[in-house]
Amino acid sequence: MRLWIIIAAMVLLSPLTVYGATYEKDIKPIMASKCLVCHDKDAPTLEEFDKDKEKYKKIMKGPKMENYKNIMMFINGSDAGAMMRRLDDGKNTKDGKPGNMHQYLGSADDERKKNFDVFKKWISSWNLKKKAELSDGELKAITAPEK
Ligand code: HEC
Repeated sequence: MRLWIIIAAMVLLSPLTVYGATYEKDIKPIMASKCLVCHDKDAPTLEEFDKDKEKYKKIMKGPKMENYKNIMMFINGSDAGAMMRRLDDGKNTKDGKPGNMHQYLGSADDERKKNFDVFKKWISSWNLKKKAELSDGELKAITAPEK
């Protein structure tokens, strides 16, 4: 009897594991409630931001990440790996400290952990390397699907 319950649960839960996380379904809502206050469309582009980081830091504006195309720059694009370095919980960083955007993932430990896990699952190849250090294979292993 108990076996049937386990099998039924596996069948019901399988879409979650098969389809994983997507930008539209899982990441967009987290970005909207936790990150866009400072990374919305009125924020500087990555290019503008890089020209005058100090100015934007003072007014608490990070580069814009308001849509899929712009967020991907920080994952597998021109600033690949930046998202992972900033969001890491400290388990992969050299100094053991979380990335400086980790704090914004939630107002308490359990919420931060939950949202961090969603990001990790979505990106799937989690490493903190800079763009130049990432191999083609490592770049391809980054999934981060839009839909
Ligand atoms: C209170 C404002 C604020 C919030 C909220 C915030 N950020 Fe940031 N973010 C910044 C600022 C300012 C910078 C640039 C300064 C710096 O590099 O630390 C930045 C930098 C970044 C960078 C690095 C960009 C680069 O060019 O290397 C990433 C990635 C990032 N944020 C992701 C996020 C994510 C994801 C969230 C939500 C979980 C978030 N941020 C929430 C203000 C914020």
